Amino acid sequence: MSKKDTNFISAREARKISKENNKILKKLDGRLSRKNVPESEYLTTMKDPGNVVEFDDLHTYFFTDVGTVHAVDGVSFNVPAGKTVGIVGESGCGKSVTSLSLMQLLQRPTGQIVSGEIRLNLGDKAYDVAKMPIDAMRNIRGNVVSMIFQEPMTSLNPVFRIGFQLDEVIKLHNTGMSDEEVKQRSIDAIKMVGIPDAEGIYSRYPHELSGGMRQRIVIAMALVCNPRVIIADEPTTALDVTIQAQILELLRKLKGEINASIMLITHDLGVIAEMADYVVVMYAGRVVEKGLANEVFLDPRHPYTIGLMESKPVINKKVDRLYSIPGSVPNPINMPDYCYFRDRCEKCVARCEGKYPPECHVTDTHIVSCWRYFDETKGGTGR
Ligand SMILES: Nc1ncnc2c1ncn2[C@@H]1O[C@H](COP(=O)(O)OP(=O)(O)OP(=O)(O)O)[C@@H](O)[C@H]1O
Ligand code: SF4
Ligand SMILES: [Mg+2]
Repeated sequence: MSKKDTNFISAREARKISKENNKILKKLDGRLSRKNVPESEYLTTMKDPGNVVEFDDLHTYFFTDVGTVHAVDGVSFNVPAGKTVGIVGESGCGKSVTSLSLMQLLQRPTGQIVSGEIRLNLGDKAYDVAKMPIDAMRNIRGNVVSMIFQEPMTSLNPVFRIGFQLDEVIKLHNTGMSDEEVKQRSIDAIKMVGIPDAEGIYSRYPHELSGGMRQRIVIAMALVCNPRVIIADEPTTALDVTIQAQILELLRKLKGEINASIMLITHDLGVIAEMADYVVVMYAGRVVEKGLANEVFLDPRHPYTIGLMESKPVINKKVDRLYSIPGSVPNPINMPDYCYFRDRCEKCVARCEGKYPPECHVTDTHIVSCWRYFDETKGGTGR
């Protein structure tokens, strides 16, 4: 194994890295911690007002003592209003870090957005979340963007009653509301996620509820302030299969009722196929393919996406073994300067020897970063 593939470094090197990190982080984290920053610093305009979020060349790194982890390394995609965008890719490819960047919930001070923009549409104006200080971000979280985590107990506090926790979220963003109005809104939210006896549940503690019910409450909590974007990060993986199906059914039903966009993060292509309007395929911190769900499912182009599709079990199709993509993801501390998938790719062409491939438009909406389509798409940009 070459040194490039390992994270082994000497204590002396670690000290040197740590010293450099401290310098960088002081600057980056200092910028985030500022108070009373004028709005003009992070005001921006959407490229397309039909989008709620536009990730534009986002780079999010973790500055660790063994080196800089390039967790998100130039990610660009849009979340159109009222649509569900499915984000798929294998473990560690940067799905969660992308969504945590939008919430400014990265582990600080190590995790930092180092460049790029995250444009968030607020209707009458737009903010660049990548430039927003934590202080200003508090008015955005829950209210404009909310998150459903994988494990419901991450979001619920075991020592407080369900009603109290929902009320707190509502009060935080609706200071003028009376206690009765707040309680009614909490009860309505519990009803909305399909839990019978909403008044009874309001006074229960989280441990008195089943896993599926708890996840419904977390969804209620995410919806209660009518956010524009809901991030659902593996919302069903901690639940058993029948409950998974119910939660997905609930999300689908709610999508029709609320006017929010959903960023749905999952390993499970089946979930994406059922739920998503658009699909974003990530690999090693970058988007390798994106497009309408139909385009990506019916006409996958990137060798990694094709491999993902082949490794998915299909009912009524007998196979001896499911396909698994050979090789492993490059070390996120030492990313190569060529296509990140090249060392695992069985479809290389001569151009793959060169730098990282540009985005190639298969259609107006279907984009793939792979040299195989460079000539076909007239140099990686047009159709
Ligand atoms: N706090 C952290 N410190 C250092 N590296 C981190 C930290 N959090 C995430 N990373 C690294 O960032 C990369 C992306 O992680 P991320 O959690 O976004 O992956 P993911 O696609 O959500 O994976 P999974 O499907 O397993 O949830 C990984 O290489 C991970 O090791
Ligand atoms: S650019 Fe080349 S190495 Fe990378 S995925 Fe495409 S064909 Fe494979
Ligand atoms: Mg994750």
